[in-house]
Amino acid sequence: MPSHHGVKQEAGGRYPNPTLKLLIERGSCRNFTNKDIPPKVMDYILRAGVHAATGGNLQPYSIIKIENPATNRKLAKMCHQPFIGQSPVNLLFCIDWRRLERWAKLENAPFTANNSFRHFWISIQDTMISAQNICTAADSLGLGSVYIGTVMDFFPTLKKMFKLPKEVFPVVLLTMGYPKIKPKPRKKLPPSVVVHSEKYSELTDASLLKAFKDKYPDLKIEITPERLKRFEKVCLKVGGRKFTDKCLAKVKKQGYINPIQRYFGLHYIADLMPTGNDRFLKQFEKFGFGWFREYKPKVGR
Ligand SMILES: Cc1cc2nc3c(=O)[nH]c(=O)nc-3n(C[C@H](O)[C@H](O)[C@H](O)COP(=O)(O)O)c2cc1C
Repeated sequence: MPSHHGVKQEAGGRYPNPTLKLLIERGSCRNFTNKDIPPKVMDYILRAGVHAATGGNLQPYSIIKIENPATNRKLAKMCHQPFIGQSPVNLLFCIDWRRLERWAKLENAPFTANNSFRHFWISIQDTMISAQNICTAADSLGLGSVYIGTVMDFFPTLKKMFKLPKEVFPVVLLTMGYPKIKPKPRKKLPPSVVVHSEKYSELTDASLLKAFKDKYPDLKIEITPERLKRFEKVCLKVGGRKFTDKCLAKVKKQGYINPIQRYFGLHYIADLMPTGNDRFLKQFEKFGFGWFREYKPKVGR
């Protein structure tokens, strides 16, 4: 089955400066040499991370730097992504309200950030902005990296593995190292589709279909009995018989499974993705977060 990561294109465009070239021709890297990252290089990369913009300059995140090959292999096995174990470094980005809570306690200040959706929301943004600074810095120094979102299926295991205290919650893993082959950039929707001038403007159906056709040109997933069966099962669960018949008729008419049918019918399967929400909320609670509960101040007003 063709990769759900999309379509590769050639790098080598001309840009006014190297930063733009780096940003526009970047690509996730999933193959690494066994060359270690020199400490000085790592230091620059991490400094780029902590200098990212962050709400109120609070920096509510921590980064676990994992260099032990056995631990990296364990993460690879856990996430079913072997390249995680082949890179010299994995960085686990976590939101971290514990450091600020401790500071508040030590300095006699009130603290409720772990019970605030606002703080939670901003801290995820802060964490990812720091992570992205790290990716860009790494790219600029000839390294490559790829985010691993799959870690979200293993929050309790990560808590144990990395001794995460309360109020420290994993967000994403970043696998990093020197690339065996420089990754090619993938086709993206262009600014003309993603950027709306002054107000949101809905694309016409035709221009929407064209935008995705341009992003995934000729991406046709071959029909096999097994794929069709899986696709039908998901459609049935999500939309019932009539909807399923419509989806199957479309597959039959076009003679292949199209990219969006593949995304949510075979890969990020639509019937299963929304399950486990309760489990995630319970995990937040276990990690010391309660922003989804009604807030009751300790002392009534
Ligand atoms: C939050 C997040 C989670 C991701 N998780 C994974 C992952 O688990 N495995 C993987 O191979 N790529 C992962 N990726 C990388 C995406 O697949 C990749 O960014 C996308 O296919 C576009 O390709 P590009 O980064 O080369 O432009 C993730 C990216 C993000 C931003």
